[in-house]
Amino acid sequence: MIVTTGSEPKSVVLAHAHELATIFDAPLVSRGEDSIEKLRGKYQTDDILIVTAKGARLERKGQQAFFFHPNTASFRIKRLERGDNDTMLSACQISPGDKVLDATIGLAADAIVFAYATGEAGQVVGIESEPVIARLVRDGLAHWDTGTQALIEAMRRVQVEESDHLQMLQSMPDNSFDVVYFDPMFQQAVSESHGISTLRQLANNKVLTEETIAQARRVAKRRVVLKEGTTGILHEQLGFTPYRKREHQVIYSYIEALEGSER
Ligand SMILES: C[S@@+](CC[C@H](N)C(=O)[O-])C[C@H]1O[C@@H](n2cnc3c(N)ncnc32)[C@H](O)[C@@H]1O
Repeated sequence: MIVTTGSEPKSVVLAHAHELATIFDAPLVSRGEDSIEKLRGKYQTDDILIVTAKGARLERKGQQAFFFHPNTASFRIKRLERGDNDTMLSACQISPGDKVLDATIGLAADAIVFAYATGEAGQVVGIESEPVIARLVRDGLAHWDTGTQALIEAMRRVQVEESDHLQMLQSMPDNSFDVVYFDPMFQQAVSESHGISTLRQLANNKVLTEETIAQARRVAKRRVVLKEGTTGILHEQLGFTPYRKREHQVIYSYIEALEGSER
């Protein structure tokens, strides 16, 4: 990988590019007037991270560009500000001050909504196993600066951990979070948003295991919540109860945390 900017970057963009070059342990090269293709040939690499005033985007040869974007969080927070409900928050029984572990953070749209709802007294930690996603999402959450104040403040409160979720859950004490939330990649890539289709190219597609859910139930104080596509059957296989099942809608399901004697 190399890191570069647009031609004639401002000092703030250059500083951001330096920061990302350190994070990715990749050389920062001057863009000059070179095209992406020319840079690929010059530096013999498929991956170019381009930093501009809009943020960072990864141009990987043969793939769509990948970049952080708050995605659905923007309009979901606006709806919540108007007093509407959000099904994910209801399924998780979220209240201000809650601690939420989002075990599959991806582009962090759900995590941002959790951060909005749990507020300043709450805590949202997201886990992502794929380093490119984890680092670009962490960077985006820290730098994104358009949208409402509520959206930006929520983004800044989300903490991203780069790890496999099972490994991380195993290292956590009992009852460390009120809710542990999973939104694994849908097995069928039907009518997904542009954001998720670019994520899919880089994401971990492994299926959730019973061992992971057992750990999540130990770490959760209240419940473990799973989100699946309309045709998902994982909740049935893993013993979750559908929160609400409507045709053509994503399925949220839950399983209660383990009681002390069950741990
Ligand atoms: C469908 S996306 C999550 C989307 C997210 N809820 C959002 O609102 O943007 C699933 C993410 O979980 C990550 N993932 C899958 N298995 C994982 C694991 N074992 N540990 C950590 N992250 C994992 C994938 O790489 C992907 O980025």
